[in-house]
Amino acid sequence: MAFNLLLLPGDGIGPEVMGEVKKLVDWMNKTGMVKFETETDLVGGAAFDAHKVAVSEDAMKKALSADAVLFGAVGGPKWDNVPYDARPEAGLLRLRKDLGLFANLRPAICYPALADASSLKRDLVEGLDIVIVRELTGGVYFGEPKEIVTLENGEKRAVDTQVYTTHEIERIGRVAFELARKRNNKVTSSEKRNVMKSGVLWNQVISALHKREYPDVTLEHQLADALGMQLVRYPKQFDVIVTDNLFGDMLSDVAAMLTGSLGMLPSASLGAEDPSTGKRKALYEPVHGSAPDIAGRGLANPIAMFGSFAMALRYSFGLGKEADLVEKAISMALDQGLRTKDIAAPGQNAVSTTEMGDTIIKTVQKLAG
Ligand SMILES: NC(=O)c1ccc[n+]([C@@H]2O[C@H](COP(=O)([O-])OP(=O)(O)OC[C@H]3O[C@@H](n4cnc5c(N)ncnc54)[C@H](O)[C@@H]3O)[C@@H](O)[C@H]2O)c1
Repeated sequence: MAFNLLLLPGDGIGPEVMGEVKKLVDWMNKTGMVKFETETDLVGGAAFDAHKVAVSEDAMKKALSADAVLFGAVGGPKWDNVPYDARPEAGLLRLRKDLGLFANLRPAICYPALADASSLKRDLVEGLDIVIVRELTGGVYFGEPKEIVTLENGEKRAVDTQVYTTHEIERIGRVAFELARKRNNKVTSSEKRNVMKSGVLWNQVISALHKREYPDVTLEHQLADALGMQLVRYPKQFDVIVTDNLFGDMLSDVAAMLTGSLGMLPSASLGAEDPSTGKRKALYEPVHGSAPDIAGRGLANPIAMFGSFAMALRYSFGLGKEADLVEKAISMALDQGLRTKDIAAPGQNAVSTTEMGDTIIKTVQKLAG
């Protein structure tokens, strides 16, 4: 069976890091290890230059019919003044919305070879492997009313509304529990039930779901502020953390810093399971942006892009063994001392995007035997 993979490299370093992963995809195809049918299209500023929109209807059609979308990065100063609806980020937001991607998975893995790049002490982060599951399409970023109004006395008042329904909490909870079952079987759910009604409901719904469908998984609850503190005090206590859109946004950035560099961090955004096929719409992307400051110079670290592809192998294609190979190859390249500039210690030699990519691919080939 062939898997349909849509590549959207985007802008800046997006095409550079995607180019490395494409070489791996092509090699996998050639060996018959996995059969991919790949298509490539434009997104972000590149799509604006060609079509005057941040993502074309044709690219959207391809994304909707793909088994998975692999996304590079979008944006850059060149497009700072384009119409708001056509700004590069609008392409990503449209993809998230139309594919119904409500679950954002952000692993924070600290490779032993890079533990010294973290702002925390080595023993706190070495070997860290946690995932934050953030609700992505609800909560205070989307709730209505959302407005700034002028009051009778001339003062202004701003309102954002935090809203969650049982259904929204249950579906993100399920993603977290299912994920934990494939990992270390522990979920930490986080909200602010002490001061927010949405937190009370979140806590009740997750507890009930756990009791009803996932009693085999260990569940604990932590208030979001306390969890922020615990993340920097003793992060290895966690396995899967599930939380809402706002807290997830902040906590996943905190977790990101535990691992050292933006160039290392992959992510996945998943939609609902199609009851007839069991498949989910999915988009995989590095956490970093288009890094215009280093674009076109061979300086970009492709590891986050490789890590995102490994997540696609695992979550969209059920190829856990192949995903392990890619992740192991990343770890081995780092163990050999290979560093792109962003993760090199002062005075240490840095390799190019292509050298890092080629080493990872060669290591996958060796590991695959
Ligand atoms: N999902 C996305 O596509 C996404 C996410 C964030 C920012 N952006 C856009 O990217 C552009 C630049 O934003 P920014 O500078 O705030 O964030 P950024 O992530 O692009 O860069 C931040 C810093 O990290 C470095 N960096 C990032 N990725 C790297 C990699 N793979 N290897 C080596 N170094 C890396 C950059 O050189 C820069 O110094 C903006 O237009 C922004 O809107 C896009």
